[in-house]
Amino acid sequence: MDLPSNDLSMIHRFSPASAEGLAPLLLLHGTGGDETDLLPLGGLLSPGAALLSPRGRILENGMPRFFRRLAEGVFDEADLQLRAHELGAFVEEAREHHGLDRPIAVGFSNGANIASALMMLAPETLAGAVLIRAMVPFAEPPEFDLKGKPVLLLSGGMDPIVPAENAARLARQFQAGGATLTHETLPTGHGLGQMDLAIAREWLAASFA
Ligand code: MLT
Repeated sequence: MDLPSNDLSMIHRFSPASAEGLAPLLLLHGTGGDETDLLPLGGLLSPGAALLSPRGRILENGMPRFFRRLAEGVFDEADLQLRAHELGAFVEEAREHHGLDRPIAVGFSNGANIASALMMLAPETLAGAVLIRAMVPFAEPPEFDLKGKPVLLLSGGMDPIVPAENAARLARQFQAGGATLTHETLPTGHGLGQMDLAIAREWLAASFA
C-alpha cells in the first residue's frame, strides 16, 4: 500500500517493504514529474523493497524539479548544493521515521542529477545509485570518497540533452571518487524505456544480493 505522507520535510510517497532484506529505493523523478511517477518502476526494479519517493521543491513554469537551472543543462549550482543537502536531510528523517536502511537512489534526468550531487556532497547518505540520463552536476566536482559504492549510469547514445562527452566526464568523476561504476550507453534518446528497466533490475540484484 502506498501511504501519501506529508508529515516530513518533503512531500512524498512511502510504500513499506513487503519482503525482507532489500535496500529501500529512493525514487527521484524528472522535470515535470512528481512523487507518484516512479513508484511503478520502483516496484518492478526491486519487488518487495520499501519505496521512498519525494517531490522536487522547485517549480519551473509549474513543473516540479529538484533544483533550479538557468537554462537547459545549465545548473544553478548554489541552489543544487542547497537542495541536495535538503534531500539528504529528508532521507535521514525518513529513515528514522520509517526505520529504513540506507537507500539506493533511482533517479531519472533531473532526479538523476540531484542523486549525483548528493552522492558527491554527502556520500554516506546513499547505499548506491541508478542514474538514468544523468549529466555532470557541478562544473568543478567536490572531492568525495564513495568507498566502492555501486553506481549504475545509463546514458542514451542519441540523447539530445546529455552529450556523450558529458556522460563520459560524469563516469570519470565517479570512478575518480571511488565508486564501483557500471556505465552503459543505450541506443536511445533521453526517455526512459524497457532497456533501462531490464539492465537496472539485473544490476540491482547482482550488486546488492
Ligand atoms: C536538468 O535540468 O536536470 C537536466 O537538464 C535534465 C532535465 O531535467 O531536463
